[in-house]
Amino acid sequence: MADQWQESFDHAVAVARKAGEVIRDALQNNVKIMTKSSSVDLVTQTDQMVEKIIISSVKEKFPSHSFIGEESVAAGQPCVFTDNPTWIVDPVDGTTNFVHGFPFVAVSIGFAVNKELEFGVVYSCLEDKMYTGRKGKGAFCDGERLQVSDVTEIRKTMIISELGSNRDKETVTKIFSTMQKILCIPVHGLRGSGTAATNMCLVASGAVEAFFEIGIHCWDVAAGAVIVTEAGGVLMDVDGGPFDLMSRRMVSANNKTIADRLVKEIDIFPAERDDAPREKK
Ligand code: IPD
Repeated sequence: MADQWQESFDHAVAVARKAGEVIRDALQNNVKIMTKSSSVDLVTQTDQMVEKIIISSVKEKFPSHSFIGEESVAAGQPCVFTDNPTWIVDPVDGTTNFVHGFPFVAVSIGFAVNKELEFGVVYSCLEDKMYTGRKGKGAFCDGERLQVSDVTEIRKTMIISELGSNRDKETVTKIFSTMQKILCIPVHGLRGSGTAATNMCLVASGAVEAFFEIGIHCWDVAAGAVIVTEAGGVLMDVDGGPFDLMSRRMVSANNKTIADRLVKEIDIFPAERDDAPREKK
């Protein structure tokens, strides 16, 4: 039976690939760097331009759909998640990597209807890997089906996380304390690619058992959320409760045993929800 969202999905894959080409080309030129919430929260003209390319091409094809885009929200647009078909876009996930030429940068496009994620597309554009997941239809990388790892013993896991862009001393202390506790379980290893979307694709691929972070945004993880679950993995909040896309907290893992075990080590710190009412700019 034809999938109701097939056309949207096909368009997401095509526009993600196009966006990736623009990002790769931009890497050849001087990148103009700007900052957002702090001196380490970076944005470039490429992020802004790529988001415009994605949103305008989707709008042209699907004029009634809604959008939550990282750079549109940074520019003052509200981050409102409604039941309307909604595209949740991070044009350049891994902006700091992009700025430094660190080779993991992804275009991340999630699509939700009635607040339920229907599909996710993550194009790891420097590796030229296209990851996709569609509700009930599995997750794939360049056409190969993805399956999470079957490890259930925490001591046999590789975990991936990020240090984020919050440099508040108390927060950094909590992040390091969590990482220390996890390392000392001990786990086989702790990694970070610099892009949440790619980290989640690595969970889906079975290369790592889990990814967790506090401080991510809905546009970093919407697409990856579908890819992980469709590869057989689980999502939860860092307190062990249900995953909430707007909460800026997540654990994604190969199975509940690993997720439950990790949650015990996470020192939680506050992060304002993506959908919290904000002052108008
Ligand atoms: C960031 C990356 C990074 C994660 C941050 C995100 P951006 O996204 O995903 O890995 O640690 O929390 O904000 O800013 O490069 O799109």
